[in-house]
Amino acid sequence: MRTKKPEIHLGLEGIYMAETSICSVNGIEGKLYYRGYSIEELAKHSDFEEVCFLLLNGYLPKEKEFLSFKDALVKERDLDPEVLQVITDTAGKGLPMDVLRTAVSLSAIYDPDVKDNSKEANMRKSIRLISKISSIVAAIGRVRDGEEYVRPEKKLGHVENFLYMLNGEKPSESERRMLDIMFVLHAEHSSNASTFSTIVTGATLSDIYSAITSGIGTLKGPLHGGADEAALRMMRAIGKPENTVKYINDALAGKQRIMGFGHRVYKAYDPRARIIRGYLEELREHASPEVENLTAIALEAEKLMIKKLGKAKGIWPNVDFFSGPVYTHIGIPSSLFTPLFAASRVPGWCAHMLEYWENNRLIRPLEYYTGKTNVKYISMTKR
Ligand SMILES: CC(C)(COP(=O)(O)OP(=O)(O)OC[C@H]1O[C@@H](n2cnc3c(N)ncnc32)[C@H](O)[C@@H]1OP(=O)(O)O)[C@@H](O)C(=O)NCCC(=O)NCCS
Repeated sequence: MRTKKPEIHLGLEGIYMAETSICSVNGIEGKLYYRGYSIEELAKHSDFEEVCFLLLNGYLPKEKEFLSFKDALVKERDLDPEVLQVITDTAGKGLPMDVLRTAVSLSAIYDPDVKDNSKEANMRKSIRLISKISSIVAAIGRVRDGEEYVRPEKKLGHVENFLYMLNGEKPSESERRMLDIMFVLHAEHSSNASTFSTIVTGATLSDIYSAITSGIGTLKGPLHGGADEAALRMMRAIGKPENTVKYINDALAGKQRIMGFGHRVYKAYDPRARIIRGYLEELREHASPEVENLTAIALEAEKLMIKKLGKAKGIWPNVDFFSGPVYTHIGIPSSLFTPLFAASRVPGWCAHMLEYWENNRLIRPLEYYTGKTNVKYISMTKR
């Protein structure tokens, strides 16, 4: 018997699934807060390690707490030989996000706390995941370039060490700071698709490695974390600033989506995109001809898209649109953009998992069945 058709929320749009004190997104005004601190404040004054502490613990650390938190991150940086071996064997042929997902999943086997689902063990595992995922991404980048793994350097901060492990040399202060800000901007974003799938997995009382592995798989898609690489690909395909208008108009006429624009929640300018755009404007002075060209194309595309779809449809640049030129300026290859997004989002995923487990409930939505019922089985020879 068919029940009355319920209201269906495709994509779970507009559905609240839990209370949270981690992050708030005001999509109408284009505002974002981590634990009550605006993203502008954090980008200006904080750094990635402090933001990790804030997201996981709910408050800004005092100096002693912060030093011991950073020390805990440093101790977890090196990779287990077995994990490194899998990266070495696969990173040359596999997609970086597939290698990352596999390496994170495999890391569970070598985690001393893997069977302990206590709050304390989950905090230790969160710190381990934040630390090791950056090392995994750097190792993937090295192997893809045919280079040897670079062991972490204890004296460097998290982001500086990531760039050191990726390039085999310490970054300049401006590269370090710029990437640090990118990590801060990507660290958390409430119940986005990858955080949701992280929570869905964790809510079965599986473990945090399985949950984060789900998150990574979800982030891979071009409608989510893959958009920054796709946006840069588009800028490269446009080639020259003067080609931008025709390219975008043709794409829109062909019903294509312009990657790096639009958002399920923001119907205003994404505040993270605004910050990244500001840095991009600043770095133009010292940019290579390639980055200058990409920036000019990006700004031209932004102008046109806002004119055509901004106010009319609420489609504005999102965090992924200006990231490509910034990462290119820092020397990060586009194949690592989404893995890097994952490395910066781990604290958000972990913070949500820890919070959700405080009041856990299995997630099990319903589907409204529209198929046949009571169909008579016909044996194979009579079909
Ligand atoms: C992020 C995204 C999936 C959110 O989409 P959503 O809330 O589901 O919005 P919808 O898919 O319902 O789109 C609503 C309308 O805007 C249009 N639209 C949305 N994003 C668009 C884009 N990037 N370029 C062109 N048109 C877009 C849709 O075609 C649709 O138009 P229609 O009403 O004429 O059919 C979507 O904006 C998108 O695909 N963006 C590009 C990928 C991207 O940058 N992702 C990163 C997000 S941080």
